[in-house]
Amino acid sequence: MPLLHRIARKDHAAIAFILDGSACEGRAGDTLLTAILSQADAVRQTEFSGQPRAGFCQMGACQDCWVTLADGERLRACTTPLAAGMSIVTRARLAA
Ligand code: FES
Repeated sequence: MPLLHRIARKDHAAIAFILDGSACEGRAGDTLLTAILSQADAVRQTEFSGQPRAGFCQMGACQDCWVTLADGERLRACTTPLAAGMSIVTRARLAA
């Protein structure tokens, strides 16, 4: 169940991306954090306890929102704009 429910920018251009292997759609102007939390209830699980995390500061300061792309690149979700074709992996650390 998504944590966020879109109430604005519903008419902005759609941007296709992949989230944990599933095809998803965000909107132009979304950050990765917005795009992910519009589809899911967390952006990652903490390395320490496995508990779900959804970001905290929303401004690039707390480091709570790191996600990984399928190619291994790590990005801060709250400060990275969504781009078409991104393949985001939120569950890699728990699977390892
Ligand atoms: S939510 Fe704090 S750095 Fe992204």
